Amino acid sequence: MAQAQWWQRGIFYQVYPRSFQDTNDDGIGDLDGIRARLDYLVELGIDAVWISPIFPSPMADFGYDVADYCGIDPMFGDLDAFDRLIEAAHARRLKIVLDFVPNHTSDQHPWFLESRASRENPRRDWYIWRDPAADGGPPNNWMSNFGGPAWTLDPASGQYYYHAFLTQQPDLNWRNPAVRAAMHDVLRFWMARGVDGFRVDVIWHLMKDADFRDNPPNPEYEPGDPDIRRFIQSRSTDQPDVHAIIAELRGVIDEYDDRVLIGEIYLPIDRLVAYYGENLEGAHLPFNFQLIHASWNAPHLAALIAEYDGAVPEGGWPNWVLGNHDQPRIASRIGARRARVAAMLLLTLRGTPTMYYGDEIGMENVPIATEDAQDPWEKNEPGLGLGRDPERTPMQWDASPYAGFTNGRPWLPLAADFTTRNVAVQLEQPASLLGLYRELIALRRPHPVLHAGTYRKITALGDVLVFLRESAEECVLVALNLAGTVQDDIPLPPDTHGRVLASTERDREERVEGHLSLRPYEGVIVALDATA
Ligand code: NOJ
Repeated sequence: MAQAQWWQRGIFYQVYPRSFQDTNDDGIGDLDGIRARLDYLVELGIDAVWISPIFPSPMADFGYDVADYCGIDPMFGDLDAFDRLIEAAHARRLKIVLDFVPNHTSDQHPWFLESRASRENPRRDWYIWRDPAADGGPPNNWMSNFGGPAWTLDPASGQYYYHAFLTQQPDLNWRNPAVRAAMHDVLRFWMARGVDGFRVDVIWHLMKDADFRDNPPNPEYEPGDPDIRRFIQSRSTDQPDVHAIIAELRGVIDEYDDRVLIGEIYLPIDRLVAYYGENLEGAHLPFNFQLIHASWNAPHLAALIAEYDGAVPEGGWPNWVLGNHDQPRIASRIGARRARVAAMLLLTLRGTPTMYYGDEIGMENVPIATEDAQDPWEKNEPGLGLGRDPERTPMQWDASPYAGFTNGRPWLPLAADFTTRNVAVQLEQPASLLGLYRELIALRRPHPVLHAGTYRKITALGDVLVFLRESAEECVLVALNLAGTVQDDIPLPPDTHGRVLASTERDREERVEGHLSLRPYEGVIVALDATA
């Protein structure tokens, strides 16, 4: 293939800024903290840091409620601190990707304050205002993702405004060209400052049905499910005209060299891949969350990998994600030992991997007492297990009183095991998960087949998944045992011989001749001998 772009060769690492590194002892991470930890990220081997929102915000949804798109919340620092971060990152050849939240603003954003001031205000149409239904209730049946109706009545003007998330997060009206132009300028503002790209929050939400028709009921909804599952979001999200809007965003991105557009999209594969754009004029990387919802057995994984790999359009670039700030930790979802195998899978599939901070040391969901809950979703729909605080707890750097994260009181509790599960400890242990991540990441440079080679399934039986990654130059075989039992004599293609490049156990350097056995929860990468 042609020389790959940095976002094709590289690995993204998501930093949740509140929880990465605090430098002013307020118990909340900040930009200087991220800068202080850049060398750790360089040694880990990642290429790009995506930082969740750092803009001025009332923090009703921890920064996903933006009150000023072109500033930095004082909690995180200021524009000078941001410039220092960019400079320090670029000096280390690290890219910085920001979180762009275009679907909604904070209700404290000056645009919304103007918009709600009166029906005649010039910014009225920047948001989505509708008259009440005939009975005085909300204009339609759309639900908020965080519980309750997605419409809030503004008594002063007698109209409802739409918010796909919190009441404090009114949706912008992307049909209004002035909104689009203003948001395009936001992208330009940050790119001119050196930002290397954007992860776009809920990009599939940007356009809604022009007639605001009801969503159909979801036959799979069960009592106890979150409100958002009551209806299928077929009118409120993923509208055909969203792709033209995204193409415009991409046009702005392409005004600058070498930037990347990543879209957050939770949709089934066939709809997800439409976000590359019909002629690849959409997102470079529509986030692929298949591994987040996967069952960790070989046939299921093989089926989803094949479906996704086959669905990515010609010229489109695949990507894989194991976790993020909205999902339970991978180590808690599938168990600590299987998380090692998952690391090997993430880093050996075709395309760009995205890691979530702390997953490289096996951080687990931290139980949060009701009185400590911070996440608005947990507060709105308590007790259903929806809260996202457990996966947002402070990074565990070392065994010092607050794990090296802060000298103050952390905004969320630390994991109980931080004195033993932390970066400092794992750096001393070659067989640690961190050691494994560093090895797997390092392997991708001398073996470009790992990001770019074709994928071919060999075996997917029970708990054993074996596949090949092939290019004109090299061929590697990846064999993963997802279970806690030994797997003897795994069938391999005839005449398979090669050399083990890596094992999840980090103690295997043998040659492989014809057959392979795997220990419980072991994965191996084998460089196959070149055939004459
Ligand atoms: C998706 C973000 O990842 C999530 O954290 C946020 O709450 C919603 N979008 C709303 O912005």
